[in-house]
Amino acid sequence: MLPSVYAPKDFKRLRAAGDIVARCFDFIAPHIHSGISTGDIDRMVAEFLKSSGARSSSFGYKGFPKHCCTSVNDVIVHGIPSDTDILKNGDIINVDLTAEYKGFHADSSRMFIIGDAPPAALKLVQVAHDAMNAAISICAPGVPLSEIGREIERIVLPHGFTISRDFVGHGIGKVMHDEPQIYHFHDKKFDKIKMVPGLVFTIEPMINMGGDKCKIDADGWTARTADGCLSAQWEHTVGITEDGAIIFTEPQF
Ligand code: MF3
Ligand code: CO
Ligand code: CO
Repeated sequence: MLPSVYAPKDFKRLRAAGDIVARCFDFIAPHIHSGISTGDIDRMVAEFLKSSGARSSSFGYKGFPKHCCTSVNDVIVHGIPSDTDILKNGDIINVDLTAEYKGFHADSSRMFIIGDAPPAALKLVQVAHDAMNAAISICAPGVPLSEIGREIERIVLPHGFTISRDFVGHGIGKVMHDEPQIYHFHDKKFDKIKMVPGLVFTIEPMINMGGDKCKIDADGWTARTADGCLSAQWEHTVGITEDGAIIFTEPQF
């Protein structure tokens, strides 16, 4: 499959989809605290997307039953929102949400801290955020895709944290998951693939406090760290321009 390379008029649509995702996070953020369930988060997301004229790209994707992913503590990715999954003080949670608006998809995830989490957990969340932003900042035409993983390693590894290798970033646009794959660790097989204007993809590093291995729950979706240690992730959808990268999944206006 060819990578997703989009025209300036498509970038406007991606901005519009990304803006809905960003504003959905801003809408749910004040309500995310101890005592609510991840099912409550899913209902807020569903309501916001509906009222925005968008739909969840995740709902029904390969049978996924909810509108967003909610990954608490040792869950790396793809946690399924549930009314019995109640947030408690000290939890860290990733909410990952992908919306389709007027035929274009935008994908982003953010971490939320529930009450007072231990300093080590806060540091993990901060380092994951720094890694995503550092990787976005080096994106520009002519830069090899492998530089994304190199930059993430440069930020993460000195802290003794690990980078999940089982899940990757991805091209996105008219479909949610497209070429190219974006590795969050350096792999020389991407040294020769250079970014070009119009390329649109996600950067979504998953950073673990312990080892990088994962296991999948019986539900077939929930991916946890094999050793039970905490995991944190942030994600943005970005587009390559002549000057660098723009982030679609931040509020635009
Ligand atoms: N948003 C996820 C990603 O970053 C994909 C979720 S697909 C789902 O690629 F089915 F698990 F929701
Ligand atoms: Co993604
Ligand atoms: Co996502």
